[in-house]
Amino acid sequence: MRTGLNGRTALVTGASRGIGKAIAAALAAEGANVVISSRKQEALDEVAKEIAAASPGAGVLAKAAHVGHADEAAACVDAAVAEFGGIDILVNNAGTNPYYGPMADIEPAAAAKTVEVNQFAIVQWTQLALKGGLAERGGAVINIASVGGMITEHGIGYYNATKAAVIHLSRQFAMELAPKVRVNCIAPGLVKTHLARALWEPNEAQISEHMPLKRLGEPEDIANAAVFLAGDASSWMTGQTLVVDGGATIRASIA
Ligand SMILES: NC(=O)c1ccc[n+]([C@@H]2O[C@H](COP(=O)([O-])OP(=O)(O)OC[C@H]3O[C@@H](n4cnc5c(N)ncnc54)[C@H](OP(=O)(O)O)[C@@H]3O)[C@@H](O)[C@H]2O)c1
Repeated sequence: MRTGLNGRTALVTGASRGIGKAIAAALAAEGANVVISSRKQEALDEVAKEIAAASPGAGVLAKAAHVGHADEAAACVDAAVAEFGGIDILVNNAGTNPYYGPMADIEPAAAAKTVEVNQFAIVQWTQLALKGGLAERGGAVINIASVGGMITEHGIGYYNATKAAVIHLSRQFAMELAPKVRVNCIAPGLVKTHLARALWEPNEAQISEHMPLKRLGEPEDIANAAVFLAGDASSWMTGQTLVVDGGATIRASIA
């Protein structure tokens, strides 16, 4: 696959671990400069060292920011522009789920936090990236949704509702920003990360047995899809959601 990513600049939120870290590492391995962000600078500095060692040709900048804090987001984009000249690819990956239980019982504060981080931050970081070179240079935005945004599930219904919003606002941005900026989503199934630990760790063997592809996802499974959507191989795709879920949503039975 010819990605054309060499020399381009990608900003990845939530890149200190899990899916975001794997995406940043995979883009750097294709020769992209990567700006990695999350709330904790120390964790980012460690990841930056790892990526720089694995991909010496890529520039790496680590800059902490809470995705929901506008001033920190703007400072991160400004730092990316100062270091690399502008943004070509934005990966809105940071996500949170502060509440587990029936949607009927969620408290306003938990609901507001879920929307702030999973949903509105995508709008805000896209606005900033557009001003940070993306609008002028053209490029790609990749938003990390979830298969939960397409189905109902016990316990994480409100989180899933924000992921459904991510799918729709990606389609809306894709329409508004074409033809210079392509906007696509990835909808991961269950991936073995910190965020989803309570869902997979106690039952990994049992869940895997019910999956068509007989295993849970690894962050690299999602990173492979992100490399495709970031690069030239997907140049005729926008507004779409790529499901990467080991076949979970095409199971004949959910039993
Ligand atoms: N794992 C799954 O099964 C799964 C399935 C579907 C979709 N997803 C989605 O995939 C994305 C990545 O999740 P993951 O599974 O890789 O989780 P993870 O391993 O827990 O990583 C989450 C990342 O987001 C950062 N983060 C969290 N809150 C943040 C905030 N307010 N501001 C900035 N950064 C923040 C975290 O770093 P700090 O804590 O240091 O800020 C970390 O780098 C999320 O959008 C998630 O909803 C995951």
